[in-house]
Formats: sequence, C-alpha cells, structure tokens
Amino acid sequence: MRRIIYTSRSLIDGSLAALDAIVAESIAWNTEVGVTGMLWWDGRNFAQVIEGEHDGVAVTIDRIRGDRRHRDMDVLFDRVVLTRQFGDWAMRRADDGVESTPGTTFLLGFALGEPTPSAKRLYDIIIATES
Ligand SMILES: Cc1cc2nc3c(=O)[nH]c(=O)nc-3n(C[C@H](O)[C@H](O)[C@H](O)COP(=O)(O)O)c2cc1C
Repeated sequence: MRRIIYTSRSLIDGSLAALDAIVAESIAWNTEVGVTGMLWWDGRNFAQVIEGEHDGVAVTIDRIRGDRRHRDMDVLFDRVVLTRQFGDWAMRRADDGVESTPGTTFLLGFALGEPTPSAKRLYDIIIATES
C-alpha cells in the first residue's frame, strides 16, 4: 500500500458546492482504482490523504497534480504503508461527521510529530477546517 499526504492552496470559490463537486469526481475515479482517502478544506487551503495500491495512487496523484482548482502542492508524506488509516471511503470531506474523527486525529498526530513548516501548515489547515 502507498499513502500520500499533501497540502495545497485552494483556487475554488468559497462555496461548499465547489468542494462537493471535487469529492464527487474523486469518488467516481477512486472507486475504479481502489483508492481511498479524506479531504480537508479550510476555505483557503486543501489537505488530502490518498491511500491504495501503488499504481492506483500513482495515477490518481497525477490527475490531482494537474488540476487548476489548486496550486503549490506540498507533499509531506509519500511512503509504503502496511494498512489504510483513513477509512474505506473512496473520498470524504473531513468535516462531514464523527466518522471522520479518527482520520483527523491520525493526521493531527502526524502533523504534530514533524518539526517542519509544512507540517505546521498542515496542522493549521486541519484545525481551521474543524473550527
Ligand atoms: C484538492 C483536490 C483533490 C482532488 N482529489 C481527487 C481524488 O482523490 N481523485 C480524483 O480522481 N480526482 C481528484 N481531484 C480531481 C482531479 O484533479 C481531476 O480534476 C479529476 O480527476 C478529473 O480529471 P480529468 O479531467 O483528467 O478526467 C481532486 C482535485 C482537487 C482540486
């Protein structure tokens, strides 16, 4: 399994409809390639986790990277992992209910454990999304 964690700057307008459109597209594609994950959006920035088999994650991150709805992608983690940690959903907004809490808690722990400006930014995005 492979997991990628990144942040980026949002270029979508401030509407949740624009965010939900991204999630809907993501579910359609990710389901085909067995990728799962979660998406945080604080109004100005994204944070996203994608997990799955190596090839599925590779083709998915290429699609995401070229998307003009965000820029300045900053990959904080791209490693082989043993298990999924962010649930079984093809994609999910992190602010959409208590089922998302374990994923958010895991990501906060990751951010707190990394002494880098990128991880501080990730931490801030998670907190702002949740508040
Ligand atoms: C922040 C963000 C996260 C995204 N996450 C995914 C994703 O997990 N899976 C996916 O297929 N597309 C995702 N997308 C959308 C892709 O970038 C792309 O627009 C979509 O897959 C359609 O690609 P196509 O126009 O090449 O068919 C995301 C876009 C943004 C801006």
